[in-house]
Amino acid sequence: MKLLEERIVQDGRVLSEGVLKVDQFLNHQIDPALMQAMGEDFANYFEQKGITKVITIEASGIAPAVFTGLSLDVPVVVAKKNVGITMTDELAAADVYSFTKQQNYTISVSKSVLSKNDTVLIIDDFLANGQAALGLMSICQQLGAAVAGIGIVIEKSFQTGRSLLEEQGADIYSLARIRSLENRQVEFVEENLS
Ligand code: G4P
Ligand code: NA
Ligand code: NA
Repeated sequence: MKLLEERIVQDGRVLSEGVLKVDQFLNHQIDPALMQAMGEDFANYFEQKGITKVITIEASGIAPAVFTGLSLDVPVVVAKKNVGITMTDELAAADVYSFTKQQNYTISVSKSVLSKNDTVLIIDDFLANGQAALGLMSICQQLGAAVAGIGIVIEKSFQTGRSLLEEQGADIYSLARIRSLENRQVEFVEENLS
């Protein structure tokens, strides 16, 4: 998505160890017009898939997910992080390992908002190692919901996430695909040349 790539070049900052800081429009301050355009783009790509729910994980996935749900005219489920384990019979849960934080966290979704009648689109802000999306796929599977695809705002294509999720048979659509963050420079995957 041209608009997003331009915004990344303009406002993104490459931090050490392959991390892109996008606090000006996605992770801290949010640009609603950009989020809306992204939601429309995701909806265009996935509109023939019979999606009944969009799902994401709190917090940074919520903005793009809500605009996608608005465009598809379906509800948006927000998986919660680290809720109490006392109500496990009401929840489907999955453990997610964060390479960035080097620790596990648990994501949970209530059985009251997702069921075998649902066809789900997973949305997230970043795809790095794919563990968050894998956790969401596990929750959908536990609840009998079908996963129609995965929409990612910024994919770091030099990390392992895409191939891991493709091994699971997922249809992944990323709005920006970053080939490299070396030398503090953002280089995008050249879609036209491949
Ligand atoms: P994975 O799910 O793909 O395996 O990624 P990982 O565990 O490594 O990511 C941990 C957190 O860091 C996630 O946010 C993820 O979105 C974010 N992240 C990963 N790479 C980058 C990056 O290059 N830049 C930025 N800005 N974030 C990155 P989170 O902890 O779940 O927090 P939240 O922002 O959703 O609340
Ligand atoms: Na996220
Ligand atoms: Na994040």
